[in-house]
Amino acid sequence: MRVLFVCLGNICRSPIAEGILRKLAAEANLDWTIESAGTNQWHKGGPADPRSESVCREFGVDISRHIARRFHADDFAKFDRIYSLAADVTAEMAEFAKSHEDTAKILNFMDHLPGEKGRSVPDPWYGDESHFKESFALIERGCRALIDDFRRLNRER
Ligand code: 4NP
Repeated sequence: MRVLFVCLGNICRSPIAEGILRKLAAEANLDWTIESAGTNQWHKGGPADPRSESVCREFGVDISRHIARRFHADDFAKFDRIYSLAADVTAEMAEFAKSHEDTAKILNFMDHLPGEKGRSVPDPWYGDESHFKESFALIERGCRALIDDFRRLNRER
């Protein structure tokens, strides 16, 4: 499966999600392609936010080789699942869509968590280290639920 995570800047939430899911997928022997992108090009070509890197490192997730990139309309065809991390990201992604099929491919990441349907992962960019830790914990729960949901679906088939 090819999975793409999308946030606004591709330096905080989506690289964290990419790093966590890569680790969990490897541990679960799932041979997935996992990438991330941002709807904006503010940080294009640069590394993840140092605060994202350090919270990831603390929990054994290495995102030190991340290079920020902008979301592209071609991504709709390149990935099986495209997860938006927040409502404002979803709105911006919809502007890249060239068809209803494209728009229908945008999934809300938090929908994997019971009771969190339609919710967003808060943007930690303006916050401090504690906000990054909260985002990390929420994203990790979401990634575990994503894998659990995938396995349940495959068992039922
Ligand atoms: P992200 O966080 O979308 O989770 O990567 C942000 C990063 C940068 C900015 C906003 C959000 N910014 O305004 O530069």
